[in-house]
Amino acid sequence: MNILVLGSGGREHALAHTFWRQGHRVYCLPGNPGMHAIATPLENVSCHVSSAVSIDDHAALARQVAEKKIDLTVVGPEVPLERGIQDFFSSQKLALFGPTKKAARLESSKAWAKEFMRKAGIPTAAFTVCQTSQEAKRAAGALFAQGHGERHGERHGERHGVVIKPSGLTGGKGVVCCTQYSEAMQAIEQIAEENCYGSAGSEIVVEELLAGPELSLLVLSDGKRMVPLLAAQDHKRLYDRDEGPNTGGMGAFAPIPFVDAHILAEIERTVVQPTLRGLQEEGITYQGLLYFGLMLTPQGPKVLEYNCRFGDPEAQAILPLLECDLAELMQACIDGELGSVSIRWKPLFSCCVVLASCGYPGPFSTGIPIEGLENIEKSENLFTFHAGTAINSSGDLVTAGGRVLGITGLGSTLEEAVKKTYEAIRQLSFPWAHFRTDIAHCSMTQPIGT
Ligand code: AMP
Ligand code: GLY
Repeated sequence: MNILVLGSGGREHALAHTFWRQGHRVYCLPGNPGMHAIATPLENVSCHVSSAVSIDDHAALARQVAEKKIDLTVVGPEVPLERGIQDFFSSQKLALFGPTKKAARLESSKAWAKEFMRKAGIPTAAFTVCQTSQEAKRAAGALFAQGHGERHGERHGERHGVVIKPSGLTGGKGVVCCTQYSEAMQAIEQIAEENCYGSAGSEIVVEELLAGPELSLLVLSDGKRMVPLLAAQDHKRLYDRDEGPNTGGMGAFAPIPFVDAHILAEIERTVVQPTLRGLQEEGITYQGLLYFGLMLTPQGPKVLEYNCRFGDPEAQAILPLLECDLAELMQACIDGELGSVSIRWKPLFSCCVVLASCGYPGPFSTGIPIEGLENIEKSENLFTFHAGTAINSSGDLVTAGGRVLGITGLGSTLEEAVKKTYEAIRQLSFPWAHFRTDIAHCSMTQPIGT
């Protein structure tokens, strides 16, 4: 098939790489240096001048897709979906993998998603949707006050506090978990008074702070059924031992040893099936990938968030393990035929470690040279996924973003996958790179030194 991947991060490189290794012809827009080695950048050629097509210009993009005879367009990030790219492509009878604008509200409006969960009886943190700073402060105060009651008391071993979330898209930033009242007030002021997130902060979700291990369950959906991929775990905090600020994700691994068939069945029964039924009741045919961000609390699995696309870096951990044809699975979602396909996985574990620019998620420098990737790329069961990289005027690979590279290693045990990944990182020359040294350690039976 001819397949176009939209986006330029590590997730998109992992998608493009999967299609490429499975024998498809891959196009990308805009892509990154790693993607450009395996995929053709989509360009708009008019009057002998070529320029990149804009992802936001759905009509120009659709023309290019028809001209290049692209059979399937795959959307990496959430923003094009929020802007209705699926709605436009389906009006042009072009196959695109990703939900409609209405369905993408599960991610683009946390307020909508929380009300949806309440209606559909899906377990999630107690919450209030607030329109003003005053309302949000009152709601946070009330949750802190309840924290002294039995439900959140220390005898249950739970942290108490609140989580403050701008309702709209903030690129993975914006959520603040607060155990102190003053932190919550400050987070609310940043959203509602200092307008740090623009219109994404016009509604604020104030919710109870939950505790427990987190997992990401990504499911394929054809509107009638949802089929899970391997469960993965992201590491969102910047530093080892889950310290420091939240990031877009510093590493991931899959599958998760402690997520057994019993836990998966419970998630399926209490979360996945009610979500499918709830969407159907809303008149929404969800076709694409749905990401469940879950916390396994003492009261059972609860949904922290929905995303309407693959996770980043979960995709970089999950996709290298896929043995069957990804394009066929995506086409089955579009055709409403997921029942006729089965998903096959390599019997291995994966570990992806993200290398970030020093300073990320705050300000950082760019243009720092990266060397040694070729050695890793030649090795079996090792993958390098580009994100914030560029080629400079001398033709050298340099840093160009916050999250720069993802290195994924596979192994027959999680320990082996982790060891392989960190050994590969040691072969790289990337001055001042920041990366966590404990990805997957929480799930290993015998943590190893790195
Ligand atoms: P979100 O973008 O909503 O997934 O939030 C980002 C991260 O914040 C999650 O992966 C969790 O680590 C944390 N988080 C979000 N909501 C809660 C909650 N209600 N309780 C505890 N942690 C949360
Ligand atoms: N890894 C978290 C996300 O993709 O939203």
